[in-house]
Amino acid sequence: MALVTTKEMFKKAYDGHYAIGAFNVNNMEIVQGITEAAGELNSPIILQVSAGARKYAQHEYLVHLVKAALELNDIPIALHLDHGADFDICKSCIDGGFTSVMIDASHYSFDENIAITKKVVEYAHDKGVVVEAELGKLAGIEDDVKVASDDAQYTQPDEVEEFVDRTGVDSLAIAIGTSHGAFKFKPGQKPQLRFDILEEISNKLPNFPIVLHGASSVSQEYVKIIQANGGNLADAIGIPEDMLREAARSAVCKINIDSDLRLAMTAGIREVMWNDPAKFDPREYLKVGRQYVKEVVAHKITEVLGSNGKA
Ligand code: G3H
Ligand code: 13P
Ligand code: ZN
Repeated sequence: MALVTTKEMFKKAYDGHYAIGAFNVNNMEIVQGITEAAGELNSPIILQVSAGARKYAQHEYLVHLVKAALELNDIPIALHLDHGADFDICKSCIDGGFTSVMIDASHYSFDENIAITKKVVEYAHDKGVVVEAELGKLAGIEDDVKVASDDAQYTQPDEVEEFVDRTGVDSLAIAIGTSHGAFKFKPGQKPQLRFDILEEISNKLPNFPIVLHGASSVSQEYVKIIQANGGNLADAIGIPEDMLREAARSAVCKINIDSDLRLAMTAGIREVMWNDPAKFDPREYLKVGRQYVKEVVAHKITEVLGSNGKA
């Protein structure tokens, strides 16, 4: 099967009340762990690449790793640019074989966000590539934004129709209280997502796929392994899984997960290295990291996203 766009995936997910996992990839073991899980569970999947991933692994390596995964697993896979900062990186990924790009101009004014997004959409659509944009601001990689506490950062439902109409974008990432990284809420703070905003937005955009960034649940299973093996991740808190399940049943068709993969990979590597400091064959620890990535992705697909059997 060739790489696919997210169009068909999102339509089925929207109608079927489940979501597609968008997992960040940075190296071979991560690609393998994710796609082996998705292949065995017959789940469609989005593999997403950030600017940082391209810098680390190089565009060509990542594209070829994903193509190898496609040869080995008979499932729909979309290759997506995560958080494209400008037109140039989107163009480079479109020209370089990606089937989907995100233009993240959410830190610009509404009109500037529209202008930049529209330019990417025009270029992408001409080449058969789909585009995700963002309205509202998440914490984490979007600098200087406080986590989930300031209403002004949430997506304004009144803006979404105009944004989608004027840009022609294919999906929209919204801010309803999720954030990037492993420390999403302060200790003692009750995790909350603004499902009321999500509902307002989906009422204004019928049959339109919504995207949730910053959706790692920060599994305590892996945090404990890291803590028990010389790491320090006290106070790591993610989005509770019941909230993600609720989102997956709604208009949210794409759920972004990176931190959970990082935690799983690190837990596996730490476990091997901490228990036997004499080990120095990278295969011995990467193999365990890859297995934990596979397990966490299988868990997401079956217990959170509901995309198993939907390939
Ligand atoms: O949302 C951002 C992703 O977690 C990618 O992170 O830019 O460190 O690769 P990165
Ligand atoms: P997490 O940090 O919650 O995994 O979010 C990842 C993400 O949104 C990638 O775009
Ligand atoms: Zn993100």
